[in-house]
Amino acid sequence: MNTFEILEKAKKEGYAIGAFNAANIETLKAIVQAAGKLRSPVIIEASDGEVKYIGKKQLVSLIKIYKEEYNIPIVLNLDHAPTFESCKEAIIEGFDYIHFDGSQLPNEENVEITKRVVELAHQNQIPVEGEIDHIQGSSAYHKDEDVKKEQKEELYTNPQKALEFVNETSVDTFASFIGNAHGLYSTEKKIDLNLLSKIREALPNKFLSLHGGSGIPDHDIKEAIKLGIVKINVNSELRVAFHDKLKEVINTSDEIAVYKIMPEVIDAVSAVVERKIKLFGSEGKA
Ligand code: 13P
Repeated sequence: MNTFEILEKAKKEGYAIGAFNAANIETLKAIVQAAGKLRSPVIIEASDGEVKYIGKKQLVSLIKIYKEEYNIPIVLNLDHAPTFESCKEAIIEGFDYIHFDGSQLPNEENVEITKRVVELAHQNQIPVEGEIDHIQGSSAYHKDEDVKKEQKEELYTNPQKALEFVNETSVDTFASFIGNAHGLYSTEKKIDLNLLSKIREALPNKFLSLHGGSGIPDHDIKEAIKLGIVKINVNSELRVAFHDKLKEVINTSDEIAVYKIMPEVIDAVSAVVERKIKLFGSEGKA
């Protein structure tokens, strides 16, 4: 199945595919281990910083091996790519999905670059995700901050503008900002489901993604999937699981062999991925 078919199946059957960020082999192992165990399709994604750390070629090669090993649909997604060149390189290297993020550019420029990315990606049967309203926050643990500070309603997506952007660019997936700020905060994220249903009505033929998947209450996630979300991005919860377990293992043992330190860390991240896959309804859909 190509990526279009994987997303189409999710849309038709009413579940979402988890898009989990990976920047190192341990996180990658954790994600594919969970998806393999639950026989779930999965999206592995890497942002600009993560890609620079692990390398585009390295990611493509590792994913190819994991696809063979687990025999489940695995989509490799370039997350929040900031330039056309970065998208082009990923397409040439063999990524399966591209998210160009021109949301901080003037609208005309965002439209122009998104169109060029779509043109190139479609020649290679690769879907493209676009966005117009910068998704606030960052994938970190903002322990002392209330998420409300990032949820300024005047920055939320306007369904009519989303429709215009989608018509002008022919993107396949639309990423909206409905309160889904990136990161974990001292409070739970409240997302605007009413606005999401209006965006769904405006874009019935497109795929919808939900960024900022960490820290959104389960019931809102379930409602968002009912309203048509087919891709949910999760990063911070994985980062926290990795960080906390690694710290615990290092602080409680004198082990220095990395391959003996890491399995517990991988299992901790994998447990988060398993929980999300079950919540998103994609278990057994591989
Ligand atoms: P979180 O860090 O809130 O999970 O968001 C991740 C994300 O949306 C990556 O694109």
